[in-house]
Amino acid sequence: MKQYLTPNSKVLYDELKKYLLDGVASSFHKASYEDYPIGMAYGKGPRLYDVDGNEYIDYIQGLGPMILGYSPEALNHVVIDQINKGSHFSTPTQDLLSLSKKLTEIIPCAEMVSYQNTGTEANLFAFRMARAYTGKDKIIKFEGQYHGWADEQKLSIDAEHLSQLGARNRPNKIIHSHGQLPITSNDIIVLPWNDTELLATTIERHKHEIAAVIMEPFMCDSGPILPKPGYLQSVRELTKTNDILLIFDEVITGFRVALGGAQAHYGVVPDLAVFAKAIAGGYPLSIIAGKKEIMTCGAHASGTFNANPISVAAALATINELEKPDTYDHLNEMSQMLVNGIKELGKKYNLCLFTDYVGSICILEFGIDRPLIDFRDCLMHIDYETYDKVVQMAKSYGVRLTPKRGRLYISKTHTASDIQKTLDVFDHVFANL
Ligand SMILES: Cc1ncc(COP(=O)(O)O)c(C=O)c1O
Repeated sequence: MKQYLTPNSKVLYDELKKYLLDGVASSFHKASYEDYPIGMAYGKGPRLYDVDGNEYIDYIQGLGPMILGYSPEALNHVVIDQINKGSHFSTPTQDLLSLSKKLTEIIPCAEMVSYQNTGTEANLFAFRMARAYTGKDKIIKFEGQYHGWADEQKLSIDAEHLSQLGARNRPNKIIHSHGQLPITSNDIIVLPWNDTELLATTIERHKHEIAAVIMEPFMCDSGPILPKPGYLQSVRELTKTNDILLIFDEVITGFRVALGGAQAHYGVVPDLAVFAKAIAGGYPLSIIAGKKEIMTCGAHASGTFNANPISVAAALATINELEKPDTYDHLNEMSQMLVNGIKELGKKYNLCLFTDYVGSICILEFGIDRPLIDFRDCLMHIDYETYDKVVQMAKSYGVRLTPKRGRLYISKTHTASDIQKTLDVFDHVFANL
């Protein structure tokens, strides 16, 4: 198998570093172990083409949004049409009515919606709504779960060692950036995920102060980690009986595990939910969805570009594509083919690995052959070194995987032949580990 050379990517990064902070537009655009990230020229369907002309089958998908693949025709023509009509009005439009109505039909918790541009902003608004509605201040979040980069969100999202996390029943709050105000963590309680007992004791102790529990219902950001059977139901029950709101962060899971998100897939309906990434197929849009009584409780947010007409048109076209009868069957079929193929290769090369999928999100971890339980479990058992090696080797043979996180996204444009080519690359990579 021929290995790619990427000299133009290196030159591009070296030049960028002179003018752009860190040489990348987001910390997620370059893995810490990479000397330089690959610069891309264009993308089509499941493929990206770099500045050296190399072709990649892509499982990162722009960090998740590209559920219809790169440059999808179904979006291109509506977006171009909207550009010709005007890209931004900051007024209501007919499309905004259609999208808002549609979202309330497909998302179980959505009696009403509100818009922002990013997941970070939408989660901040959900925090504010929960506090306004309950009259309480504290929010429970879970270790390893990322809800955005703002001061009170970027807490305990990662760790180098288990010891950094502190005692299981009283975890440390890890602050990740210089300049983050420590005081903003005062109203955040951090806990390990998937542990009903610990959540119940914490709620019992602090219920008069806790406004909300926020979680990814299928924890995609550090594992990915599946909820234990019955866990989501227990959290729903615990929050309901203690006048605490349950917020699902569906920034990743939304539209990917099912059209109505993880809440539709698992049949557990939160009070509020936040969606972003895949909702507009590659254009910036996020939504806060929830019960009318909560959404109208007097919390306010604003934003110049909220629900800009281009993103709204793209979201309507994305939903239209996702609603086509074979979409989720195809996504599931491709995920299953990939996961089954990886399992076979794991056996062939006697590798300790775990792989599974929910909808268009696949899991691949080394060093463990069972589902993960929480972020502490990741730190204790995942063989990150092998995973990173696989990511780097696969990239050099034309398959792009998400660094560190063991999460592979399938798009509607991935075909059985793409999956087979990917498995051929894995065969070669696993043989050479
Ligand atoms: C689960 C989750 N929530 C929130 C966010 C923040 O979204 P954004 O990057 O659009 O601000 C992310 C981003 O990766 C995420 O994965």
